[in-house]
Amino acid sequence: MVKKKLAIIGSTGSIGRQTVEVAEFLGDQIEIYGLSAHNQSSLLTEQIRTLHPKKAVVTNPLQYQQVASELTGWDGELLSGAEGLIELVTDPEVDLVVSAVVGAAGIKPTLAALKAGKKVALANKESLVAAGEVIMAELGRRGKSQLIPVDSEHSAIFQCLQGITKENLKTLHLTASGGPFRQFSLKQMEKITPKAALAHPTWQMGGKITVDSATLMNKGLEVIEAHWLFGVDYEWIKVVIHPQSIVHSLIELVDGSFLAQLGPADMRLPIQLALTYPQRKPNPFSRLDLCNLSELQFYPPDFQLFPCLALAYEAGKTGGTMPAVLNAANEEAVWSFLAGRISFLEIPRLITKVMNEHMKRVSQRPDLETILEADHWARNLTRQMMVF
Ligand SMILES: NC(=O)c1ccc[n+]([C@@H]2O[C@H](COP(=O)([O-])OP(=O)(O)OC[C@H]3O[C@@H](n4cnc5c(N)ncnc54)[C@H](OP(=O)(O)O)[C@@H]3O)[C@@H](O)[C@H]2O)c1
Repeated sequence: MVKKKLAIIGSTGSIGRQTVEVAEFLGDQIEIYGLSAHNQSSLLTEQIRTLHPKKAVVTNPLQYQQVASELTGWDGELLSGAEGLIELVTDPEVDLVVSAVVGAAGIKPTLAALKAGKKVALANKESLVAAGEVIMAELGRRGKSQLIPVDSEHSAIFQCLQGITKENLKTLHLTASGGPFRQFSLKQMEKITPKAALAHPTWQMGGKITVDSATLMNKGLEVIEAHWLFGVDYEWIKVVIHPQSIVHSLIELVDGSFLAQLGPADMRLPIQLALTYPQRKPNPFSRLDLCNLSELQFYPPDFQLFPCLALAYEAGKTGGTMPAVLNAANEEAVWSFLAGRISFLEIPRLITKVMNEHMKRVSQRPDLETILEADHWARNLTRQMMVF
């Protein structure tokens, strides 16, 4: 069997490391061809030494020399910077790309991979949030390229939708664990520390998405991601809190039937499906024990306590450059919260102010350049607002 050549961009992150694990397990079908890191030079060096990829990229140029000097006896090619990522994902040898970098840095390589006709397993939700229209248009233009969701909710919906026609679909229900603060009062929220926000009750993830889960912005970003992936209007995309994280999402059909996908809270499952789709493979990963599931709860989200969710719906419905602005302001606010510069409640306040400023200059049907300009504008404004 000819092995598929895989490039994992963001291989040092939570999704990246789990993808390496899955790809090693699928070693008879998949060859790890390329890897990338931003800051974690030692981990990238270790991955290169054990996995022997043909290419690797250090996207932070300041870390490039460190990796280059530690790699002796490796006959692969070490690339640098954001351009290095584009070179890797468009390499004619590459069949499959896992887009697992965090933030808007994922927009250009994801788009480049699709333009080059690759199958893309998408974890980087920020690229679809900010540039959904451009990415979906590119996908529509290419016969060969494919976009398979890795996010567990979207993977669940993708699976539930197999064989379902658009006219039979009524509503997408995205489940959310609710994060560590789902039972907090506003007063308790004033004192939330980065350490508390990083302690997610059900999922082990990178820092930014863990804070996004605590504010419910993650679910808001996923609503926008679902809109683009499945072509469903915002009024038909609902969020439901499900603290057990067992039901990964559901679809509701016009006749009143609900279809759900269930599984353990283990990202290796949706990652594996994205890599092997349309095939499925048995694996040694964790399994559900149905008889041990004492209860599955579902209740509506509190939009007052978690304004980020409402902001994401508003940005999605406004459309144009607004989702890119929401995403950029959120990224800046979250990194500042993690650095101890702003409070937890300051995150939605800043995003609200930046979105309000942008309302009078929203550009509809933006091209990539306009989206990246809006992203840049929103980051600058968010940083300025944090200074005063
Ligand atoms: N973790 C999950 O369970 C999960 C689930 C669903 C979706 N996702 C999505 O998957 C993406 C990755 O999440 P994660 O939890 O894996 O994040 P993470 O652990 O923080 O990893 C992020 C990866 O991106 C790299 N990176 C950071 N800044 C970069 C830049 N400017 N340019 C290029 N690469 C950069 C990091 O490199 P260094 O580590 O070397 O600095 C790392 O490899 C996010 O979009 C997230 O929303 C994650």
